[in-house]
Amino acid sequence: MSSFKIVFFDLENWQLDYLKGKVLNQDAHYFTTSVMDTDLNGISDADIISTFIYSKVTKEVLDKFPNLKMVATMSTGFDHIDIAECKRRGIAVCNVPAYGDNTVAEHAFGLLLNLSKKIYKAYDRTVRGQFNYDGLLGFDIKGKTLGVIGTGRIGCYSMKIANGFGMNVIAYDAFPRESLQAEYNFKYVSLDDLFAQSDIITIHVPLLKETIHLINDDAVSKMKKGVIILNTARGPVIETNALVKGLQSGKIGGAGLDVLEDETAIKDEWSLLHEITTLPSEQLKVMVENEALMKMENVLVTPHLAFYTREAITRILDTNLKNIFDLVENRGLENQVNK
Ligand SMILES: NC(=O)c1ccc[n+]([C@@H]2O[C@H](COP(=O)([O-])OP(=O)(O)OC[C@H]3O[C@@H](n4cnc5c(N)ncnc54)[C@H](O)[C@@H]3O)[C@@H](O)[C@H]2O)c1
Repeated sequence: MSSFKIVFFDLENWQLDYLKGKVLNQDAHYFTTSVMDTDLNGISDADIISTFIYSKVTKEVLDKFPNLKMVATMSTGFDHIDIAECKRRGIAVCNVPAYGDNTVAEHAFGLLLNLSKKIYKAYDRTVRGQFNYDGLLGFDIKGKTLGVIGTGRIGCYSMKIANGFGMNVIAYDAFPRESLQAEYNFKYVSLDDLFAQSDIITIHVPLLKETIHLINDDAVSKMKKGVIILNTARGPVIETNALVKGLQSGKIGGAGLDVLEDETAIKDEWSLLHEITTLPSEQLKVMVENEALMKMENVLVTPHLAFYTREAITRILDTNLKNIFDLVENRGLENQVNK
């Protein structure tokens, strides 16, 4: 069997070691850098490249790999790859469709527990030697109504956890699957009813044109006073301005956010400083609102890492390897997204 030239980008060192032990008998190359930040000398004849979301696989990047047969992305989303151009060139694009249903749901509950028992605030105080209860009164999760928006893989796992906590669970989905109700012990309701009845709302829908700003002023106005909102899906599902206003007025009691609208602007804030005068005012507004959110006492923000556990990443690496070896061993490409 002739060996394939496989080039892995965007790896962390432990991931690199893990892969090295598994990719045998192939001409494999490993980089911690993205495809744009790597010197391609000696690897541009690759048959397969493996990337994460940091590598933008554009037409220009594809031009640099004339022998390419596959782009294997270590993510579910593939909007960083020009899949139509890949298809035109006969290059298969494969993704990792599922890897962290429990991982992301666990994070949502991590945010909820932190908010309900004010753990982060209590921790911050105890490390400074303050042992008192002032301002630390929490609330029980048991008996509260959880409204789950999106009853897909992560939404369902969240319901499983919620049942364990003794919560009452209701849910909304644009494409409800009635049989899930018995399996996960919940009731489908309309979106308005979910807003009206939920003590805690957790969001698990994809970012689509239909879900952009699903939580806006109108939605907030229909919610219970003091509602807690959790977002581990995608930032733009919540209109940041509506969230900030809701929190400031006390209508929203707290928020746990693993994702923010325009979150890449936060990551790159130093480079953005150089172009600040050219940014659209809408983007600047969201950036200022994000800063305000992160400073609020009843808001907990994490840097889009709900998926980031050793187990989930190992599942990603294993599926990525399966995708690669499906090609190497000439099997059907189960996870091809540009057929
Ligand atoms: N924070 C993270 O690290 C992280 C990691 C993985 C996934 N995610 C996000 O979580 C989302 C959910 O993941 P999943 O694996 O459960 O997806 P999934 O595809 O299994 O479920 C999505 C659900 O949303 C429903 N839906 C689609 N459009 C809708 C609409 N307009 N209104 C209401 N419901 C709608 C679908 O019917 C489906 O039941 C992903 O799309 C992704 O954005 C975040």
